[in-house]
Amino acid sequence: MTGLTIPILKPVKRNQLIDGHGRPISDVRISVTDRCNFRCQYCMPAEGLPWLDRADILTFEEIQRLVGLLASMGVASARLTGGEPLVRKDLPLLVEMLASTPGLDDLALTTNGYLLERDAEALVRAGVNRFNVSIDSLERDRFYQLTRRDSLAQVLRGLEVLASFPEAHPIKVNAVALKGVTEQEILPFAKFAMEHPYEVRFIEFMPLDADRSWSSEQVLSGKEIRSILSEHYELVEIPREESATARVFTFADGQGRLGFIDPVSEPFCSDCNRIRITAEGRLRTCLFSIGETDLRDPMRAGASDDDLEELIRNAVWKKELKHRVGDAGFVQPARSMSGIGG
Ligand code: 5AD
Ligand code: SF4
Repeated sequence: MTGLTIPILKPVKRNQLIDGHGRPISDVRISVTDRCNFRCQYCMPAEGLPWLDRADILTFEEIQRLVGLLASMGVASARLTGGEPLVRKDLPLLVEMLASTPGLDDLALTTNGYLLERDAEALVRAGVNRFNVSIDSLERDRFYQLTRRDSLAQVLRGLEVLASFPEAHPIKVNAVALKGVTEQEILPFAKFAMEHPYEVRFIEFMPLDADRSWSSEQVLSGKEIRSILSEHYELVEIPREESATARVFTFADGQGRLGFIDPVSEPFCSDCNRIRITAEGRLRTCLFSIGETDLRDPMRAGASDDDLEELIRNAVWKKELKHRVGDAGFVQPARSMSGIGG
């Protein structure tokens, strides 16, 4: 034996959507509405934002067409986001329309959980196979302060209803980590992760807030959180899957999972496989893109699938190599997270 190791490369399909840096694009996040019933401090102003008109957002048929086209180009995974996706009327119907798309293996949803008590069953039955529920605090007052809604109990009830469906697992709980706030949540969340079948993931605060008040001092890094945890627990890292955004750890006894999404302190752009479509049908190749490619107006003007495919391939070819958060010349995109979809 020599010390030579041969990397195992996944075969790339001939028609696979690929960017100009050689990254296969296999995941699309679709914002189904820019509206939200929460007003998280790090995302939306208290008074909300000017909402899009109904006629401006993609119809279910338009979303279905784009997902079908993307799936034919090897985009095997789709995630529905918002704003808050559950405020879009008849969302389970859209899920049903997408679930049978040839080539789509994975249909996920990111929600703030407020309407899960009402909708979890319909969404699971319609075909959502992975759920992320955003919960930034397990303490009522802090939850209220962060989301500007006194709704922790409602969200936890929704999460329990969701968890009662075996098909909905694994369930991820996402918490945005803010310096001076989230430190107090670390141990309660660790306990929560040990006692429930949820992977709790801390996400570093990114400059995608509508107030534009982000500064690097407000970011509580994954490393800082792990260091606090290590005073109480031994964490064992689970090998990272390709293109996964999170580093995942388990506790020494193997019970419970904690994830860390550290885009600010440890960017994971080099194997990014994601693109995004906004509620009004613009393609974004990075969370931090300044430019966008409109797909809605061409669709409404009668573009063929081949025309759309060309628009998509050209835009994706120019996908950003990496984000520039923290660099001197960084420019925050005009949209906040609620208009992009996470
Ligand atoms: N930084 C990091 N995460 C954010 N989210 C919303 N705004 C930000 C931000 N500025 C998260 C939400 C949700 C997902 C869609 O993105 O909490 O989990
Ligand atoms: Fe709504 Fe999500 Fe933004 Fe909070 S982070 S205001 S739940 S879109």
